[in-house]
Amino acid sequence: MTQPQVPAPQRRQSLVRALESAEGSIREHGRDFLVAFYSALRSLKLYPIENDQVQRALDGIFDTANRLYEVEGELECRVSHEFLYINSVRLRLNLGNYATFSHVLTTLRQCGIGAVDVEEGVERREWQVFLSQLITYAPRDAGPDLSGLCQRMTQGGVTHILLRPPPEHEEAFGDSEEAKEVAKRAYERSVAVTKELISGVRMGRTASAKRIKRAVQSIVDQVLRNEVSLVGLTMVRGYDEQIFTHSVNVCIFSVSIGKRIGLTKLQLYDLGMAGLLHDFGKSRIPLEILNSEVPLTAEQEEVVRTHPWQGVLALFGLRGHGEIPYRAMVASYEHHMKTDLSGFPKTMKPRQLSVFSKIVAVANGYDVPPARSFTKGVAVRPDEVLREMRENRDLGYDPTLVKALINLLGVYPVGTCVILDTYEIGVVHSANPDLSQLHRPVVRIVVTADGGRIDPGPLVDLASVDETGNYQRSIIKVTDGMDYGVNTSEYST
Ligand SMILES: [Fe+2]
Repeated sequence: MTQPQVPAPQRRQSLVRALESAEGSIREHGRDFLVAFYSALRSLKLYPIENDQVQRALDGIFDTANRLYEVEGELECRVSHEFLYINSVRLRLNLGNYATFSHVLTTLRQCGIGAVDVEEGVERREWQVFLSQLITYAPRDAGPDLSGLCQRMTQGGVTHILLRPPPEHEEAFGDSEEAKEVAKRAYERSVAVTKELISGVRMGRTASAKRIKRAVQSIVDQVLRNEVSLVGLTMVRGYDEQIFTHSVNVCIFSVSIGKRIGLTKLQLYDLGMAGLLHDFGKSRIPLEILNSEVPLTAEQEEVVRTHPWQGVLALFGLRGHGEIPYRAMVASYEHHMKTDLSGFPKTMKPRQLSVFSKIVAVANGYDVPPARSFTKGVAVRPDEVLREMRENRDLGYDPTLVKALINLLGVYPVGTCVILDTYEIGVVHSANPDLSQLHRPVVRIVVTADGGRIDPGPLVDLASVDETGNYQRSIIKVTDGMDYGVNTSEYST
């Protein structure tokens, strides 16, 4: 039997009502959360930690935060101008809650906090550390320096409460320590989310798409504000984390390429999702194949080659898969196809690859070889990978997008170890922002002309000239850092 048709205006009204009631529910839970936050702050300030009132207040914040998380699937408390937002819904201010609002707002501001992200699995102990830090940190270290507080939180074992500075500070502090710390947190958080996602799927748990979305958004925000720090982090590799860091790196490179070809922020959010999730199908490939120490058999290779289409199926299995952009699913399917369609999966009919898929393929092509070199112990120089990608058309990368990647990384990518004409040895820190000087990056000197190690050595711009107009330093050749006892990943940021 067919359902009776509901007239459009009524449908719209019921949609508006549903949205309003969802917002109302966040406001209600958000207010409870804020009151609990305020009470915990106050009682921690007034009484010793063992005091009953403090303990009750900590129970209160722990419970209300968990409840909010259960209902919403996420918890972000953000400060913007004179308002507080919970998960993007502005909390309404009235006379009854004015004191609570303004106290929380002032405390967060004094510590230089623009947003607090609470992750699933937060422990009561983490709330205690965070709130105690807010109290002790605010009066003494008032100002916008968030990195000190972030460090203290990390030392205190807080991993599920993440802090971000207000957007205006992120811009103002471009290359500062604070900006680096924020970039690092965004990176680590994305690695953690990816790990949870992939490991969760292996254990039969369905992950939430909303969390992935939020992690990707912070990566995009960081690429737009603080690209150098974030790209530097792609060099740092840990063996265990490799599959997860690879996904995050591909996300970062994809978004950076997307930015260079003029995509909008919203498009970059979708592209970032495509980058982070491109290899999601690997969660369905047996671990003994993925982690094999010996070359794979032909049958095993075939199994690995199913990951693009397995990825699409796995993405549909995510909780809230409606949040995953369609183009991210397409990129999972197409990222190994190559521009001439000679890759895999094989296509029956000619097709036009999506630009997202081509971007993800380039990002993936750059990040994969170093990852392999790590497991197999064969050093692949980043500049050689780039050259191969540019010159070998059989690899099937879109040349314009490879160019965009070179613009991002410079001819000598971040982390390349170089010998200079001054006989100093340096590690590339960042590409020269002047595109006509891509062959003259900014380099950190790590070994002096007489062979002495310096740590931390100075940053030098190879484009700078002396009074006679000659370059002060030039690259003679690229070398393997290990020959000189230089671990390049230590110098990436
Ligand atoms: Fe892949």
